[in-house]
Amino acid sequence: MDSLLSMDQLSRQEIEALLKHAQEMEHGHYDREAARRKILIPLFFEPSTRTRLSFETAMLRLGGQVLHVPHLNDLAVSKGESFQDTIRVVSGFGDLMVLRHADDAAVYLAEKYSDAPIINGGNGCDEHPTQTLLDLYTIYKEKKQIDGLNIALVGDLKHARTMHSLIKGVSHYRITLFLISPHELRAPRPLLELLRERNVHVIEGRSLEQVIWEVDVIYTVMLQHHRIKDQGTLERLRQEYYRITPELLRSGKQNVSILHPLVRMNEVAVEVDALPNAAYFRQAKNGVFVRMALLYRMLNSTLFAKNF
Ligand code: CP
Repeated sequence: MDSLLSMDQLSRQEIEALLKHAQEMEHGHYDREAARRKILIPLFFEPSTRTRLSFETAMLRLGGQVLHVPHLNDLAVSKGESFQDTIRVVSGFGDLMVLRHADDAAVYLAEKYSDAPIINGGNGCDEHPTQTLLDLYTIYKEKKQIDGLNIALVGDLKHARTMHSLIKGVSHYRITLFLISPHELRAPRPLLELLRERNVHVIEGRSLEQVIWEVDVIYTVMLQHHRIKDQGTLERLRQEYYRITPELLRSGKQNVSILHPLVRMNEVAVEVDALPNAAYFRQAKNGVFVRMALLYRMLNSTLFAKNF
């Protein structure tokens, strides 16, 4: 694999090979020197806790090293260096770059100028493919399978990049997909068309209460308030937005799994954390194993390392 920019690049077979490898990593069956003398470049133009730190941990666990990238204010972009020049220069300092950027197009532009393969660590509203890989891994671990499940994606399906990549990811499986959102926050049309092309059984609606009794997995996300310009609309959506509570879960299946890519705002009550259904902290930890598997694969690819 050269770069990983979108879930469009991965077939079901490739996803499952990665998840199987992640499981081996989790069980400790891996070469601790697999990334020896390799350097990861975490270039984040937006804040991150999970993606950045789990990639860094994954690289260190594989025996590799991580370039210390200073805060953006201390990079030459702050004195006017172009994004393209930054990518050209920084990509020469390591073997593999994880890039996060607020602009949807940035990872695709970066790929043209980079000497190192790029992993999309989240591009604007568009995608977050490695989040989806860990989401799928978490569903496998919690439910032992994905085929046959009823999965509800709940909340801001329009702006959340995690949702966009996840829709692409689950489109490979024989599931029933409940897309639950306010009308203004429906999933983008191309994703609905993809689900139709792949014959996924989709049920769209606004109310989680009406369907909660039949779902096995609830995946929710915070309202992407920074992407909504109109203050009136934002206030209304804030009032209407979803909130998962222990009381609500009493209407659902006893073993329904709650996933969330985090950051959490109010959409999952902290009282849910104590329930066995709350999978979101286990999910964050799973990111390390999945990212180890991905780094391993990219470091061992014959397409890897343009320069070294
Ligand atoms: N899930 C996720 O992308 O979290 P971070 O923004 O902390 O990386």
